[in-house]
Formats: sequence, structure tokens, C-alpha cells
Amino acid sequence: MRVGVLLSGRGSNLQALLDAGAASWNVALAISNEPDAPGLARAGTAGVPTRTVPHRDFPDRPAFEEALDAALRAAEIELVVLAGFMRVLGPDFVARWRDRSVNIHPSLLPAFRGLDTHRRALEAGVRWHGCTVHFVRAELDAGPIVLQAAVPVRPDDTEESLAARVLAREHHVLPMAVGWIAEGRVRVEDERVVAVDPGDSSVNPSQ
Ligand code: GAR
Repeated sequence: MRVGVLLSGRGSNLQALLDAGAASWNVALAISNEPDAPGLARAGTAGVPTRTVPHRDFPDRPAFEEALDAALRAAEIELVVLAGFMRVLGPDFVARWRDRSVNIHPSLLPAFRGLDTHRRALEAGVRWHGCTVHFVRAELDAGPIVLQAAVPVRPDDTEESLAARVLAREHHVLPMAVGWIAEGRVRVEDERVVAVDPGDSSVNPSQ
């Protein structure tokens, strides 16, 4: 499966995808809305084609998203991964890529949608925090959940230490979720992600 990654910055989740490699999928394109995103260099180093689609160059969101969509289609992308892509996507783009786009978010959704998740988790006093890979829907940071990983919140945690613990888990669950999708092991049913084979013990770990 040809995977297209949308990013805006550092690109460590893109790197995790590049490092994971798999027979069933490969990163075929990386697109950034920020021209100087370090993630673009990571893709270049790995020999993955890159595109810059700066949102500021377009008169409005639909025009920006049309350009994103055109780049993805030109590269024959089959699955879009939002990996630190810091733009909200509109309903047309989301509908076009419905169940063919996932996002990684640094919280245990539906808790802490939006920004500053680690600070807000510390402020809320939660004992567990984590990350979520979910199919993209028009509502921000919402959609059928593919995979989550939880980490403990320690009494002496700072925003930085907690972010680092969560990020390590992001790098694990994102390639895993992409693999499940590429291998056709999960599907969306009634807005829930279910295992195609109910006996698949890694998708349904309790079985
Ligand atoms: C990651 O923590 C990702 O979960 C988060 O941005 C970071 C990107 O890091 N995404 C969001 O907050 C989207 N709502 P990276 O560029 O090193 O992958």
C-alpha cells in the first residue's frame, strides 16, 4: 500500500514509519505545509519524494486542500497518514479520504483533543496518558480508533518528560496501525474499528 505522510514539523513519526518498513506498505510521498519542516529532510534522506504545499500560498482552505489532494492522487497514494500535520482538514478532503486517512494524536482520545495535550494532562492530574491512532473525520481529533498506547504519569513529570514518554509510544503504534490497515486486518463498522478476523490476537489482544 502506498502511504502518503502529511506533516508540519520535526517528523519523528515519519521517521518511525521510514524505519519500520514493511512488505505490505511503504512511504511513497511526504508533504509538508511548512517549507522548512525538518521532516522533509528526513524523507529526502530516505529517498522518499517530497512536496511542499504551503497553506499560506492559497487563498482559502479548499484551494489548499485541493492542491494536497492533487499531489496525493498524482503519487497514487492509497493511505494518508497525518503525522504532526498541524492544519485542520475540511469536510471535502476528509470525505474524499474517508477510511483511507489516519491521524496520530498525543493523548488517549477522546480526552484532550486539540493542542497542549501533555500540559493539560498534567493539569488534570490524570494517572495515565498516551496516544491514539484514529481514522480521520471532519470533527477535530475524532474518528474510529485503530490503536492506543497508554503511559503512566509520574509525580515528577514535566511537560517535556511526559511528551517524550508518549512520543516513544507514538513511534511504536503508528507503524503498527498502518500495517494493520495495509494488511486488511481491520475495517470500520458502525464507526468502530473491528478486526476483520475476530480471532486475530494482536488486533483483539483480550482474546
Ligand atoms: C506528535 O506528538 C503528534 O502526535 C502531534 O504532533 C507531534 C509531531 O511530532 N500531533 C498533533 O498534535 C496533531 N493534533 P513529529 O513531527 O516528531 O512526528
